[in-house]
Amino acid sequence: MKIDGTHYRSLWWNSDKDVLEIIDQRWLPHDFRVIPVATMQDFANAITQMRVRGAPLIGATAAYGMALAMAEDASDANMDAAWTFLEKTRPTAINLRWALDRCRAVLRPLPQADRSAAALALAHEISDEDVEINRRIGENGLALIREIAAKKPAGDAVRLLTHCNAGWLATVDWGTATSPMYHAHDAGIPLHVWVDETRPRNQGALTAWELGKHGVQHTYITDNAGGHLMQHGMVDMVITGTDRTTRQGDVCNKIGTYLKALAARDNGVPFYVALPSPTIDWTVRDGVAEIPIEERDAQEVTHVLGVTESCEIGSVQVTPNGTVGSNPAFDVTPHRLVTGLITERGVCDASEAGLASLFPDFAKAAE
Ligand code: MRU
Repeated sequence: MKIDGTHYRSLWWNSDKDVLEIIDQRWLPHDFRVIPVATMQDFANAITQMRVRGAPLIGATAAYGMALAMAEDASDANMDAAWTFLEKTRPTAINLRWALDRCRAVLRPLPQADRSAAALALAHEISDEDVEINRRIGENGLALIREIAAKKPAGDAVRLLTHCNAGWLATVDWGTATSPMYHAHDAGIPLHVWVDETRPRNQGALTAWELGKHGVQHTYITDNAGGHLMQHGMVDMVITGTDRTTRQGDVCNKIGTYLKALAARDNGVPFYVALPSPTIDWTVRDGVAEIPIEERDAQEVTHVLGVTESCEIGSVQVTPNGTVGSNPAFDVTPHRLVTGLITERGVCDASEAGLASLFPDFAKAAE
């Protein structure tokens, strides 16, 4: 997507320097910094410290990490070591393991001499695929937004609500939840997006930044405001992303998503989740019981990062000294609360039958 007229992806290969470059998202929306990711430790840091974040982007980054590992030492032993090293960086988003498994499955049968070039080509392929998948999610979600717009008086905005950042920054491009928004905006449908701040790390500020750069009207709200807005008829549809979707359609996304789904159900607001197929974990059914939830440093809760009045980026403590914090980073929304899943192959019910109807090939392969 565009930043001040220039098209960016969230990561790209710099072929002059032979290195992966990323937007260091720790500083957004206050500062736009591009950094190289040049060593295996850089890759691990980029993912664990959330310089890159969002399920699809974590997967694409890991694929470039595997490419670096193969350039350094293309042996089977190093391939397995890189898989293990990268896989443990973050536990919840399944795209990480999906990308590493795909890399290993493609590279393992190749002669060692061919693995480095093949791994880099595969990382490019995974990135390009992500862009195309998200573009299609946008087209499929656009149809839903059009239906809502058609029932409104001409010129009235469709009012969406989103949680976290499932935008282009969280993918290679377009985003998942935001892709239908960008498509609707580009199609001339009047739109207004309520953007949840998404404490503790305020990924909503990333969403606000992206939407603003694309000219999409939006308002930043506290995490607790969504239920109130829904009660007062101010939300037509919720769209979120997901870090892992089970084969029965349970959805694991940024902490607080579940509460939005409950409020949406209580108020008859459609609650949709946008996802690329690599985010489906066909090996699990019950998301609450089976998905590992990342527990992050409590300092993300007791402190807030922002820009001070003197224009410096800094962290401030919001709790009394010594207060103990807890920081589960994701929660699971059971499929019964999800109106539908927006995928690259169409929109389906959040159910085993729904997912299997769109992805019979993957469902069967996982049996
Ligand atoms: O902890 P994060 O910022 O990596 O969490 C990101 C999310 O929860 C997104 O909503 C999810 O990855 C979907 S991204 C298209």
